[in-house]
Amino acid sequence: DGTLRMHAEERGKFIGAAIATSPLANETAYRNIASTEFSQITAENAMKWESTEPNDNQYTFTGADQIVNFATQNNQQVHGHTLVWHSQTPGWVQGLSATNMRAAMNEHIATVVGRYANNATVVSWDVVNEAFNEDGTFRQSFWFNTLGQSYIADAFRAARAADPNARLCINDYNVEGINAKSTAMFNLVQSLRAQNVPVDCVGFQGHLAIQFGFPNDIQQNMQRFANLGVQVRVTELDVRMQTPRTAAKDTTQAQYYTNVINACNAVTACAGVTIWGFTDKYSWVPDTFSGEGFALIYDNNYAIKPAYTAVHNAL
Ligand code: XIL
Repeated sequence: DGTLRMHAEERGKFIGAAIATSPLANETAYRNIASTEFSQITAENAMKWESTEPNDNQYTFTGADQIVNFATQNNQQVHGHTLVWHSQTPGWVQGLSATNMRAAMNEHIATVVGRYANNATVVSWDVVNEAFNEDGTFRQSFWFNTLGQSYIADAFRAARAADPNARLCINDYNVEGINAKSTAMFNLVQSLRAQNVPVDCVGFQGHLAIQFGFPNDIQQNMQRFANLGVQVRVTELDVRMQTPRTAAKDTTQAQYYTNVINACNAVTACAGVTIWGFTDKYSWVPDTFSGEGFALIYDNNYAIKPAYTAVHNAL
């Protein structure tokens, strides 16, 4: 019995969900689950650069504030997502010279993080998102190509200056297990911290697929990061399957959810797990991965799936 957030809170962990602004405004069922089942929320899109600063120095915080106000009303925390990313960042940023790009980055971080710095609801940020390639080299993004890897340290320093109390994370996908990409992330975090760059936290997105297998060394991987002195968390968990959905696939999916919650429970420095949405009605998966779907813990009609029960029982 009880909600996911009650069980997570008893363990001293958060359980989170990514939240989309349109159903939050328009659907009671969505709002009810979002508020009762989760203790932390992440804006699925509303805090990304294209949403908050579509034109140079013209800020729109309508969606971001909607998320933050909802969380405040429901005694939830907000994880800010995301400040510096190659995707969903306007073209005007991508075309800047190095001097102007660095200035735009610092100014954007100061403004967005600064807006919520005295708001107790927003407690953490994904400062840099998806900086690596699968082979562990740096992604050749416009950030890297224009500024070199120094953009990463600069971004963290700007975020710390804008909110000394926020927990600052570096976040990526396919880094749940031990592999070339997660080892590159490990080496970077170790080296940044040795230089007193304020990296407090590592986020493992956790976009899993049942046909790819489970990263069985996830707990070991989390623990090696924890041993560097950082907090760890799963930031965007979903477990997709190839359509059609079957009972057997639901069972495998539920086991993956169990395994992720168990890993976080087993690592003291793991603060919690955020699911990338909660209902299959609103999931990025079918739009992004052709022929795949059903990645979340409620179905299209807001009925719980075996994955919900799995998370509930593991918490
Ligand atoms: C996705 C959203 O879910 C979609 O609605 C949007 O169209 C594209 O971005 N990694 C991230 C998230 O860090 O911001 C992405 O979210 C999913 C992959």
